Parts: sequence; structure tokens; C-alpha cells
Amino acid sequence: MDTKESLLLKVKEKIERELDCLLKKSSHSLVFGKGNPGAKLLFIGEAPGEQEDLMGIPFVGAAGRELDKLLHSIDLSLKDVYVANILKYRPPDNRNPSKEEIECHAPYLLQQIQIIQPKMIITLGNFATKFVLADFNVNRMKTIGGISVLHGNPVPKEIDGFHFIAYPLYHPAAILYNPRLRSELQNDFKKITGLIKDV
Ligand code: URA
Repeated sequence: MDTKESLLLKVKEKIERELDCLLKKSSHSLVFGKGNPGAKLLFIGEAPGEQEDLMGIPFVGAAGRELDKLLHSIDLSLKDVYVANILKYRPPDNRNPSKEEIECHAPYLLQQIQIIQPKMIITLGNFATKFVLADFNVNRMKTIGGISVLHGNPVPKEIDGFHFIAYPLYHPAAILYNPRLRSELQNDFKKITGLIKDV
């Protein structure tokens, strides 16, 4: 029987084979995901940055170090979570993802979700939050409020019969630029332990 790990590897190989996207040409590497494919918690970020593009691993730069510290603060580590992004290749100069890019890359994120079957999807920042709360429909993202209102509030969701809790958080990069958000993100993180106890 295929394990979650081997199924994820097939999705990764499919991206390498078939994803037709300009970002693939302008970046160094495919940044697929890291962590435990059997985890209850899936973190979704926006797109790889410079360090992630160089190493082919999500959240290994400054934002990744913040994420590691936040996980550690609630006694979790990479063995307890899986981490992925909406976009699998870095946008030049870390610009925002376009609607077309999200549309091209999202089917692979959905396949990752179907394989991992997390109990809780923790969306980091505006893009991931809006995309997940819009039921993975890029055209509906504009109907969803901003992260400053939504952060810290779990939302039960369902997609194609698969039930999970969406939990929007500030992006760890946001606290590097706006240190006032640090304590809010730390407090929202602390709620994760209680939330996963019930799922
Ligand atoms: N920011 C993201 O959203 N994802 C990464 O992998 C790194 C930084």
C-alpha cells in the first residue's frame, strides 16, 4: 500500500513534470513541503522566499526561524506538523502571487491536503487565509476579510466531504516588520494546543 510519504512524492514528481508556469523558469527550485505527512496540523504559507528557493525547503529563512520558535513555544516541532505553501516556486523579488499563479499551483496544494488529511489547517497571512476560507476558489478570495480581523479565530470547513478546522494566523514574516504583532501571534499560537485536543 502507498504511504502518505510515497503519495506526496508522486505529487512532487507530477509538479516537476507537468506544471507549466513562468515562475518555474525564474526560480532555482521546487519548494514542495516539509514535516510529518501523518501530522494533524498543516501550516500553509504564501510562497517560497529567497532562502527557500535556494534550499528547496519551505520556511527555512527568517520567517521560518520565527515559525520554529513559535512551534517550540508550544512544545511542537517538525515531527508534529507538515508545512507547505500555496505557490511551489518563488515569485521574483517576493512579489505577491497573481490570481493565475494561485490557480496553477493550488491543485497541487489540494492534493497535498487530500493525502495528509490534517485535522487543522493553519493559514499563515492574508493569501493563505483568504484562499482557504474562500473554499480554495481564487475568485472568491476578495469576499474574505483581512488577517487583522480573522486571526486567532478557528473556522470549521469542509471541502468535498473532508472536514477540517481552518485557523488563520498572522504570517511569521509580519512580526519581523511589525514587532507589535509578535505578542498577538504568540497568543494565537498558544490556543493551538487546546484546539487540537478536541479534534
Ligand atoms: N514565507 C512563506 O510564505 N513561505 C515560505 O516558505 C517562506 C516564507
